[in-house]
Amino acid sequence: MKILVAGGAGFIGSVIIPKLADRGYDVDVVDWCWFGNHLPKNIKLIKKNIFDITEEELKVYETVIFFGRSLERSNGGIFSERQFHL
Ligand SMILES: NC(=O)c1ccc[n+]([C@@H]2O[C@H](COP(=O)([O-])OP(=O)(O)OC[C@H]3O[C@@H](n4cnc5c(N)ncnc54)[C@H](O)[C@@H]3O)[C@@H](O)[C@H]2O)c1
Repeated sequence: MKILVAGGAGFIGSVIIPKLADRGYDVDVVDWCWFGNHLPKNIKLIKKNIFDITEEELKVYETVIFFGRSLERSNGGIFSERQFHL
């Protein structure tokens, strides 16, 4: 199964994604990498805003997991103009 994890380069994604890959899932990540990228090198990273993903790009995925979140609390709002709200 091909899965896209939005915000997958963060804390939770860095733990979950290697486990999904170990279980045979084909996982790609879309993330701006505000805290870096600590994912295994075999995980494809699409480095851009989650909300710039197009319908065309999404067509290849059977499932999307969303781990993105507002950065308001984690960095004092430095990137507030780029935030999204859940
Ligand atoms: N960490 C925890 O203990 C915890 C506990 C309960 C729930 N959660 C929830 O789990 C989810 C993931 O948490 P986390 O700790 O991994 O967060 P995190 O901040 O470590 O990771 C979030 C990732 O999202 C990316 N991101 C945010 N906005 C983006 C955008 N517009 N475009 C591209 N990338 C973007 C960031 O670059 C970052 O890599 C969040 O919804 C959080 O609220 C986390």
